[in-house]
Amino acid sequence: MTSRILVTGGTGTLGRHVVTRLRGAGCDVRVLSRHSHDATDGIEYVTGDLLKDEGIQPAVDGTGTIVHCAGGRKGDDEATRNLVRAASRAGTQHLVYISVVGADRVPVVSGVDKTMFGYFATKLATERVVADSGLPWTTLRAAQFHDLVLMVVQQMAKLPVIPIPAGVRFQPVDADEVAARLVELALGTPAGLVPDMAGPRVYTVADLLGSYLRARHQRRLMVPVPLPGQAARAVRAGAILAPDRAVGHRTWEDFLAERVLSAA
Ligand SMILES: NC(=O)c1ccc[n+]([C@@H]2O[C@H](COP(=O)([O-])OP(=O)(O)OC[C@H]3O[C@@H](n4cnc5c(N)ncnc54)[C@H](OP(=O)(O)O)[C@@H]3O)[C@@H](O)[C@H]2O)c1
Repeated sequence: MTSRILVTGGTGTLGRHVVTRLRGAGCDVRVLSRHSHDATDGIEYVTGDLLKDEGIQPAVDGTGTIVHCAGGRKGDDEATRNLVRAASRAGTQHLVYISVVGADRVPVVSGVDKTMFGYFATKLATERVVADSGLPWTTLRAAQFHDLVLMVVQQMAKLPVIPIPAGVRFQPVDADEVAARLVELALGTPAGLVPDMAGPRVYTVADLLGSYLRARHQRRLMVPVPLPGQAARAVRAGAILAPDRAVGHRTWEDFLAERVLSAA
C-alpha cells in the first residue's frame, strides 16, 4: 500500500490540522484544493473541484487512503459521488469521511427544516454515498468545532439586539482533537461508522454568546426566539449532542481564552 494520503479540504479548518498531524506521523500528503498552492516539505497540492468534477482523478491516483474533509454549504453528496467514482477507478483502499453528530437524528421534512437544518440531511446523504461506495470506509461524526461557534457568535455580536434560538444547545469540540482522531482512523483499518466525538461540555447559545461578549467586555440584549419545525424540535431535544461521547478535552472557555483574550 502506498503511504501517500490524499486529504480533500486539506486547506480548511479541520483539514489543515489533519495534514499537520499526518506529516507528524511521517506520511506523504497530497491536498486537493480548488486553488493552486506551492508544494511544501512532504505536502503536494493538486488543483481540482469536487463539485465541478474537475481534477479529481489525478488527485486520487497513487494514494491508498483518502481523508475526505472537503465540504461546503451545499452539494457535498454530489461532490462525494464524484470523489468516490474516481477513488473506485484508482483502487483506493480506505476512504475516511467526517460527518456531523445528529446527521441521522435531525429530520429534514419541510421547507423550513431544510432552510435551517438542511446541512444535516446532506451529511446523512453523503454518509450513504460513502457507505454504498464499495470502497473500504470509515465515518466519524463530530460535533460543531469551536472555530465554527466562534464565527457564529462573532456575527451575532454585531447586532444590537440578538435573537437567540430558544432551547438550542451545542457541545463544541476542538478541531485539532477531531483531526487527531481522524488520523488515528486513517492509519488504522476501515471501521465503518465509529462512535461519535463531541466536546467536554454542553452549552446553550446564550452561554456561548455570553462568554464571548464577556471576554470582549461587550453587552448585548438577547431575546429568545422559538424556531419552528420538526428539525428544530429535534435539535432542542438534544439531537446534535452526544453527552455519552464527551471525549474532547479542550473546552470552549480554553479555546476562547486563547483566540479572543490573547488577540486583545
Ligand atoms: N465546522 C464544523 O463545526 C463541523 C462539524 C462537524 C463536521 N464538519 C465537517 O468537517 C468538514 C470540514 O469542515 P471545516 O469546518 O474544516 O470546513 P472549512 O474550513 O469550510 O473548509 C472547507 C474545505 O473544503 C474545501 N472545498 C470546499 N468545496 C470544495 C470543492 N468543491 N472541491 C474541492 N474542495 C472543496 C476547501 O478547499 P479550497 O477552498 O482550498 O478549495 C476547504 O479546504 C466538512 O465536511 C464539515 O461538514 C464540520
